[in-house]
Formats: sequence, C-alpha cells, structure tokens
Amino acid sequence: MVGELRFDGKVVVVTGAGAGLGRNYALAFGERGAKVVVNDLGGDMKGEGKSSTSADKVVEEIRRKGGEAVANYDSVEYGDKVIQTALDNYGKVDIVINNAGILRDRSFARISDLDWDLIQRVHLRGSFLVTRAAWQHMKKNKYGRIIMITSASGLYGNFGQANYSAAKMGVVGLANTLSIEGMKYNIHCNTVAPVAESRMTKNIMPEDILSALKPEFVAPVILWLCHESCNDSGGVFEVGGGHVAKVRLMKTAGAIIRSKNQGSTPEMVRDNWEKACDFRDFNVPANIAESTDVACKAYFSVEEGRNSIKPNPTSATTP
Ligand code: NAI
Repeated sequence: MVGELRFDGKVVVVTGAGAGLGRNYALAFGERGAKVVVNDLGGDMKGEGKSSTSADKVVEEIRRKGGEAVANYDSVEYGDKVIQTALDNYGKVDIVINNAGILRDRSFARISDLDWDLIQRVHLRGSFLVTRAAWQHMKKNKYGRIIMITSASGLYGNFGQANYSAAKMGVVGLANTLSIEGMKYNIHCNTVAPVAESRMTKNIMPEDILSALKPEFVAPVILWLCHESCNDSGGVFEVGGGHVAKVRLMKTAGAIIRSKNQGSTPEMVRDNWEKACDFRDFNVPANIAESTDVACKAYFSVEEGRNSIKPNPTSATTP
C-alpha cells in the first residue's frame, strides 16, 4: 500500500480539541489538509469554568503550520452549535471526533447526583448531541466518519469511576447502532479507547509509564479510521504506546437449562453453571441476529430431543 493518507477537502470537528489527545487529533488532521473545527469549552478537568484560550491556541498552531481551522467554545451539551460552526465556516461536516471529556472520580457510595449527571451530560449526551447534529448532513452527503472515545474504564470497569465507566460504555452502545444505521449512507462509526499522557492521567499513573504513552501515538489510528479508504465500521480499538488492538464480545457456547415439556429451575442452572461459563468453547457473534438466534436454536433442540446446540456457522469460533 502506498500514498499518504490525506484529508484535503474534508471538514472535521474535534470536540475537546484545546488540550491533550483532542489537540493532537486536530493538529494531525490540519497537517493532512482537513479543515478543522477546534471545539473546546476550556474548563477544568471536573467540568467547571470556561475559557476560549485553549481552542484559540490550537487554531493558531494549525494555521501557523499552513492548515485551516476555526474555533468553537460551546460545550458539547450544545451539539448543534458545535456543528453549526462547521457549516457556517466550511459548508459541511465530514468527520466528527467525540473526544471532549471530564472526570469526577469518587467511590460509588460517594457519587453525587452532579458527579453522575455531569459525566453523562458531557461524555454520553454530548456525543449524542454533536453526532445527531452532524448526522443529517452526513446522510445528505452520503459520507461520514464518526469516532466515539471510550476508555478501558468503560470496557473493564475501574475503581472510583462508576459514573465515567457507565458513560464510556454508553458511547460503545451508541456506536454499535450508528454503525448499523449509517451503513447505507456511507457513514462509519468506530470507537477508540486511548491511553495517553494528559492532564486526566497525570495524577493517576506513574511518570515513567506516562512518558511512554505519548498522545501522538493515538492520533494515527483516529486518522486511519476516518479516512475514506478505511472500510471499518462498528469496531472498538484500544490504542496506546504505539500499539493498536481490536476488542469484541465473546460468548460461551453455553448450556441448555431445561428438558422437554419442563420449565427451567434454579437447580438446573446451578448444575449447568460451569458449562454455561466455560470459555473453552465459545463464539463471537457478529451481530444481534447471530447472538439471539442461539436462544431459538436451544429451544428447538430440546423439543427435538437433542440436548446440544451448534453455534451459528457464520459466527467466528476463533479469536
Ligand atoms: P484532557 O482533559 O487533556 O482533554 C479533554 C478536553 O475536553 C479539555 O481540553 C476540556 O477543556 C475539553 N472539554 C471538557 N468538557 C467539555 C465540554 N463539555 N465541551 C467541550 N469541551 C470540553 O483529557 P484527555 O486525556 O486528552 O481526554 C480526551 C478524551 O479521551 C476524553 O474523552 C477521555 O475520557 C478519553 N480518554 C483518555 C484517556 C487517557 O489516557 N488520556 C484514557 C481513556 C479515555
């Protein structure tokens, strides 16, 4: 494969692009010819305050390097205003990176309503509102590339981050459905879980580890997923330290927990639990139909006197 991946003529909106990872994404797009909307509310890490300085600085940086950029200072809670800046200045929107984020970490019992609501409003609702405002324009243009930013905290959980984990897993669900609804309009939606040095990770990771996790290592994956030549959609990728890997759900082959003409009992569940949870025999459903199909197959296999089911032949059975 040859040729530089360029974004000439494309309009990209990067939310939370005044600092950290978002700044890197915006600079990388700008260097490769995209017109960039640098959105940033400019508040603190907990979501308090606002300022135009950080977005302005990144716009200046992009322009200084010969690129095109404009600032937007609205919170992603006003998604239509963020997208309007792209429409007013560049007449369209091709790419949206839902990167803006804050943290309000507390152990679960101590999470206040505000800690919960603000995190959902910025991460999940903000991603929804910005993307919804862009969606109709992408549909009309039959082109769109959308990135949701999740976190290992969402995918695996993390002590003190119940509010953040819930929101970050929420954006994965949002992307799963957008990738299906966007398919016929050439709108792709992928999700990235980055790990990198920023003000967010400064106090929670040791310095030597942080210095290995440069934000510059994440941007290339974002750019690839947003390029017109990339056909991926609905993927979840963990990215950091110069490494990228794809994540997906695995499901055990499972166990039948009823017999013909009889209901299921808690005792039957108990007696089959080990088999139900045994990942030595598994499949990787590619979609909702492949996954739910197993329940119907299980029912009819019992009715027909068999006590086993075969995984869907189109489901991958190797990782
Ligand atoms: P950061 O704090 O350096 O950057 C976040 C930016 O979003 C800030 O410039 C902030 O002003 C802006 N922002 C916050 N609320 C906003 C709002 N309502 N509207 C518009 N802008 C807003 O943090 P970092 O690390 O660069 O994080 C970027 C994204 O990556 C976040 O979504 C974060 O949750 C996610 N992430 C980062 C990880 C890391 O290792 N740094 C790990 C996993 C996820």
